[in-house]
Order: sequence, then structure tokens, then C-alpha cells
Amino acid sequence: MSDAKDADRLAALVGGIVGYFGITVRRVLDAGCGIGLLKAPLAEQFPRATYTGLEYSEYLCQRHGWIQGSVQDYVSQKPYDLVLCHDVLQYLDDRTATRAIANLARLCQGALSLSLPTQRDWRTAADPDRSDQNVYRRPADWYQTRLRRHFRHLGCGVHVPKALRPISWELEQPWL
Ligand SMILES: C[S@@+](CC[C@H](N)C(=O)[O-])C[C@H]1O[C@@H](n2cnc3c(N)ncnc32)[C@H](O)[C@@H]1O
Repeated sequence: MSDAKDADRLAALVGGIVGYFGITVRRVLDAGCGIGLLKAPLAEQFPRATYTGLEYSEYLCQRHGWIQGSVQDYVSQKPYDLVLCHDVLQYLDDRTATRAIANLARLCQGALSLSLPTQRDWRTAADPDRSDQNVYRRPADWYQTRLRRHFRHLGCGVHVPKALRPISWELEQPWL
């Protein structure tokens, strides 16, 4: 996500999918929230929800009031209805990213919105001049294998815990 317009579109997309599947959102966690580009657009989509920004960077936490912690080991007393993790896991090594996905599953009781560039994205879609290149370039199936241990993919990067079993028609499901 590179700007406020992307954040608006993404929040609308997630709001639509989550609403379609009847998931009530009262608690939102933005894991690796950066400067919090999603905070305002998510408040528009989910006006009754509380937003928690989780960040590794001490500077960003002091500046924006986020909780300082890391996606791989942040613990919450209560799970969140919606967890977002955008453009974060590519910075973590294999072991840490695997732990992060398992921890996202512990933190999420409703929907997870996950996005990051894969190895193929780097070859075909990423703009090298506008992208941070100091990242791990893993294939999509590396992430999919680990996500499938905990989640069902609804499409457009939105996943739900396996236990939720939302009803959808076969042709509405993702083909990947
Ligand atoms: C590319 S930015 C993405 C920010 C935001 N999610 C967005 O899409 O605009 C990556 C952010 O993840 C944070 N980060 C990196 N590793 C992290 C970790 N293990 N736990 C939490 N945040 C992390 C960085 O400090 C940085 O702010």
C-alpha cells in the first residue's frame, strides 16, 4: 500500500468482503501498521470498532501512539475481529514469518487481510525504484502452505479461521 487512495480502496474491499460474510467487526488490529494509513479508512468502514496499531518501530510508536511489539509474538487478552497485516512479512526470515502467521491465527477470530509481494510479484509487478528491495522473496505457495494450517482463503487476500466455515458458493471461491 503506497498512499491514502490505496488505503481507501483496500478498506472498502475488506469492508465489503467482511460485511458480505456477516463478520461483525468491533476490534481491529493493524499488525505492522507503519504510519497508520489504514486507520481513518477503516474507521469509515467500521465506525463502531476500536483500532489498535501494532508496530516494531519505537519511533513510529512514540510518534503515533501505537503499541510497540512484533507480529510474531504480540499477545492480546482478547482476539480481534479483523486483523490486517500488509507489507510486513516479507521483512521477516522464514522462521520468524512462520511464527508470525501462527500468531496472526491466535490473534484473529474473524478475518485476516494479508498482503505482501511474493517472488513472482518481484519479477512481474514490483517497481524496483519504488520498492524496498531488502526483503525475503518467497514464492506464494510458501505463504499459502502456512496460511492453510489455520485459515480458509475467501479471496482478495482475506482469510478466515478454519473453524468459521463461512457459507459461499463454489464458483465464488478463490481458484488458487
Ligand atoms: C512497508 S511498512 C508497511 C506499513 C503498513 N502496514 C502499510 O501497509 O502502510 C512495514 C512496517 O512493518 C513494520 N515491521 C517490520 N517488522 C515487524 C514486525 N516483526 N512486527 C511488527 N511490525 C514490523 C516496520 O516497522 C514498518 O513500519
